[in-house]
Amino acid sequence: MKGDLPRWAIVSEKRRAHIERVVTLLDTWAQRMNLPATEVEAWRDAGWWHDALRDADEGTLRAITGDVERPTNMLHGLAAAARLADEGEPRADVLEAVRWHTFGHADWSRTGRALYMADFLEPGRQFMQADRAFLASIVPDAFDAVFRQVVRMRIEWTVREGKALAVETVGLWNSLR
Ligand SMILES: [Fe+2]
Repeated sequence: MKGDLPRWAIVSEKRRAHIERVVTLLDTWAQRMNLPATEVEAWRDAGWWHDALRDADEGTLRAITGDVERPTNMLHGLAAAARLADEGEPRADVLEAVRWHTFGHADWSRTGRALYMADFLEPGRQFMQADRAFLASIVPDAFDAVFRQVVRMRIEWTVREGKALAVETVGLWNSLR
């Protein structure tokens, strides 16, 4: 299963292209940071798996997660992590990265933080392209500073759109101030 989508993935072609760009960005950072092979692999797998259920329907997502309250489009990370854990994936950092990638989480290791940044900074997204490309280019040298900036940008967008902030997101921001 490593190094690709899980067999139970439900993703469109467009989504798959996004996932591949996220993995490429994570790999680029990991190489430039000279990370140990185990961490390179953890980042890559988190990238491959984070959106594996992004195009699953609401019934599927609620059945897997048991969640009846969160918005449907926020459930795919929780659902993918639940499937991976069911299948015996043992790495807590990978599971937590996938589980919380939509919300952010204060207790994340570097794997979760890297995935959260890559998901936002990958070059296929159409907004703020110059700013995001610059941030992506400095992640290996300024990992923590860029992470904080990405959290801030994502929260600002959420508030501007009038959407609710999850408690996990608020907890992450309060841990970074
Ligand atoms: Fe994603």
